[in-house]
Amino acid sequence: MVVPILKYPDLILRRKALPVEKISERIFILVDNMVETMLRSEGVGLAANQVGSLNRIFVLNSTPQEDTPKPIAVVNPEILDQEGKVVEEEGCLSFPELYLKIARLEMIRIQAKNLYNETFVLDATGLLARAIQHEIDHLNGVLIIDYVDETEKEKVKEYLNGVVHIS
Ligand code: CO
Repeated sequence: MVVPILKYPDLILRRKALPVEKISERIFILVDNMVETMLRSEGVGLAANQVGSLNRIFVLNSTPQEDTPKPIAVVNPEILDQEGKVVEEEGCLSFPELYLKIARLEMIRIQAKNLYNETFVLDATGLLARAIQHEIDHLNGVLIIDYVDETEKEKVKEYLNGVVHIS
């Protein structure tokens, strides 16, 4: 089921998600909805906070450059290793039409659980590495506007003014 994506300044986007203790039926349904919602929005990733849940889970389209999406569920992710730095423009489904230049690690290795409670390790570079860092940030209540440098400060200010006036 496609569910609404919460937009800034929804307060749940600022909360820290909690580790998942048990993969229950509810978690299966949550992940199912998150995958459907991510694909519908053509996002590369979606974190549980963005659909109003505080479980440490995000979903990822692991093949963002290919025609057939390959969504995966990432439960309780931990960063094992990291390398390099790259600045690219980045957006977020909770900030429609806002794109900011953000420095991220070039390579990242994470460990997480899948829906079958199996531990896996994932190495990512490029867009996928960026998406993983973005989604882990969501689980910690960190958002793209937190990275803004001097040159984009005005852009964010204007954007947030618009958001506040509309809502
Ligand atoms: Co986001």
